[in-house]
Amino acid sequence: MPATSMDQLVSLCKRRGFIFQNADIYGGMQGLYDYGPLGVELKNNVKAAWWRSMVYERDDIEGLDAAILTNRKVLHYSGHEDTFADPMTDCRKCKGRFRADHIKDGKCPNCGSTDLTEPRPFNLMFKTTVGPIDNAENIAYLRPETAQAIFTQFRNVVDSTSRKLPFGIAQIGKSFRNEITPRNFIFRVREFEHMEMEYFVKPGEDEQWHKYWIENRVKWWEDQGLRRDRFRLYEQQPDELAHYAKACYDIEYQFPHGMEELEGIANRRDYDLGNHTKGQEEFKLEAHCHENHESTQKLCMKDEQTGEAFIPFVIEPSVGLDRAVLALLTEAYTEEDLGNGNSRIVLKLKKHLAPIKVAVIPLKKNNEQIMAKCHEIKKNLLKLGIGRVALENTGNIGKAYRRHDEVGTPICITVDFETIEQQPESVTIRDRDTMEQHRVNIADLPAYLREYFNN
Ligand code: GLY
Repeated sequence: MPATSMDQLVSLCKRRGFIFQNADIYGGMQGLYDYGPLGVELKNNVKAAWWRSMVYERDDIEGLDAAILTNRKVLHYSGHEDTFADPMTDCRKCKGRFRADHIKDGKCPNCGSTDLTEPRPFNLMFKTTVGPIDNAENIAYLRPETAQAIFTQFRNVVDSTSRKLPFGIAQIGKSFRNEITPRNFIFRVREFEHMEMEYFVKPGEDEQWHKYWIENRVKWWEDQGLRRDRFRLYEQQPDELAHYAKACYDIEYQFPHGMEELEGIANRRDYDLGNHTKGQEEFKLEAHCHENHESTQKLCMKDEQTGEAFIPFVIEPSVGLDRAVLALLTEAYTEEDLGNGNSRIVLKLKKHLAPIKVAVIPLKKNNEQIMAKCHEIKKNLLKLGIGRVALENTGNIGKAYRRHDEVGTPICITVDFETIEQQPESVTIRDRDTMEQHRVNIADLPAYLREYFNN
């Protein structure tokens, strides 16, 4: 189990500007968090790594960015209106409300009372009305998963890209769940980000593709720096499967609060495409508009040999991005004993995930010549496209190194008097992990850093 505690992470996240409680100044709002200056960089880097592996490095996956507000019909035919619920129990003594499956030994987690109501289902979707008239016809939902728009846009993507099976559609975006008991920092929240990919395959080939995607995703997590002995695969039991799934494997990570799901890789069969095909027929009959519409968009493919239409099966790797951030922070957080009573906190994030790639630090605060050189270096490094390059002007080099260790900056560049007084111009480069320093000529910096960040 990683030694990192949730308290250490929460404290670092607030202190260094990764994650803040939402509406902090008004006492916060349960289950909502805001990503601060470094949190947004880290999150963007995780998204970029996922998108790169799903879309850019492959030739069989397209991207999508769909609306969050979702037509009620979509979530009716997806089964979410009827089945997307958690069992809820009330404590008659303290009036607390809890997820029934989180209750231990029949006791209220808040006051210990055993006077609890029978569990009843609570639908997790956030409901709203669209437009000025508040009636049943205008009900819409904030999407509980990004996947549904991938299914409803299936025909448009296939027609606009001429895709043949197997192929996938990837999407990153916000999802919303009205969790009964949000908890464990950013692990269980009411507004979160999903990274989901739906990979459409021929029925009968689904099980082999399911296996393929499980292996692919395990490898991806290792590439992001998660140690293999800190995460495991868990096969969901039949009574744990979502209403659409034929099978599902969870990648579970050893979070500070326990071994819990980080990503689900489900075989959703033809459930969603099938239901939305049926849903369109019913909708047109109900609306008496059959003759005014083009024929139903059958969410199917044609068998190239027989010409027969069939509904593809789909394999879905689905990651909770906030959970990904929590896992990566847990893994990277390190307290190092430096001897002689000294220690440091260092965030050993993989360099492609580090919020700040390079910090340019002047040895002396407010020195015009040194600062001008710092600005020039930063400007040139930005051209490399490696990500955020931060410029410091605090004048305390030791503190700057410690701060950048804590936020995981892989490289610090120090500009000193030698830089501006001697030719060829050179700077000191300090490595986050080894803390070793060496001098590099400014003319060689772009090649040095390109090589460093590309490896
Ligand atoms: N799309 C998978 C999930 O909502 O968990």
